[in-house]
Amino acid sequence: MRIGIIGSGNIGGTLARLLAQAGHQVAVSNSRGPETLQELVAELGEGVHATTPKEAARFGEVVVVSIPFGRYRELPVEAFAGKVVIDTNNYYPGRDGNFEELDADRSTGTELLAGFLLGARVVKAFNAINRKSLDELGRPAGEEGRVAIPIAGDDSDAKRVVAELIDQIGFDPVDMGGLAQGGRKFQVGSSLYGKLHTAEELTAQGTG
Ligand SMILES: NC(=O)c1ccc[n+]([C@@H]2O[C@H](COP(=O)([O-])OP(=O)(O)OC[C@H]3O[C@@H](n4cnc5c(N)ncnc54)[C@H](OP(=O)(O)O)[C@@H]3O)[C@@H](O)[C@H]2O)c1
Repeated sequence: MRIGIIGSGNIGGTLARLLAQAGHQVAVSNSRGPETLQELVAELGEGVHATTPKEAARFGEVVVVSIPFGRYRELPVEAFAGKVVIDTNNYYPGRDGNFEELDADRSTGTELLAGFLLGARVVKAFNAINRKSLDELGRPAGEEGRVAIPIAGDDSDAKRVVAELIDQIGFDPVDMGGLAQGGRKFQVGSSLYGKLHTAEELTAQGTG
């Protein structure tokens, strides 16, 4: 599958490596330009190239957005039409500035992103696990203690695509429900945020 990655830092860079190792073609991008990603591309090897955010979004059948949340309105909207989008972003007011609807819990970061990327099918995933765990804890399916990745979204087909990718890179996907309700279960400040769980443990916390 072709995967576009927008934001190639801790999480985007790690996902680029894991997805390339799983056999996907990966386009990485950042805000400063492809020439600043040559080291990463050389390290990740075959199947990975650097480009601009717009070209990465066009390239991907699935597009990962992994940038500081507060910059989401800089994304090239038109290039996302029809794409399955993975939103790894978290809202940190200290870094992102204050968003009144988030501070008042009238909306969530992923819903704001989905509202901005009209026509894209946005799935929230990889928000509650840190870079080191994502990098090191992938295990084959069925292995005891395999770490689970909660996902949320309003499009079942898009969630199926993302769940399959999560399984391929060594984690158990667990569907927590729609963007509004499900996404809140593992956003910053939730009981699941920043902690590692198995699929069984996550399911016990209430899915769907
Ligand atoms: N770190 C974690 O353990 C962790 C875990 C889960 C979720 N998250 C969330 O995932 C997101 C990414 O976190 P991170 O730690 O990977 O961040 P990071 O290491 O700071 O990387 C951010 C990346 O986004 C790029 N970027 C910034 N603005 C952009 C724009 N307008 N267009 C395209 N690319 C842009 C940066 O490129 P330049 O360097 O060229 O500006 C950089 O490649 C954040 O929302 C974070 O809260 C982080």
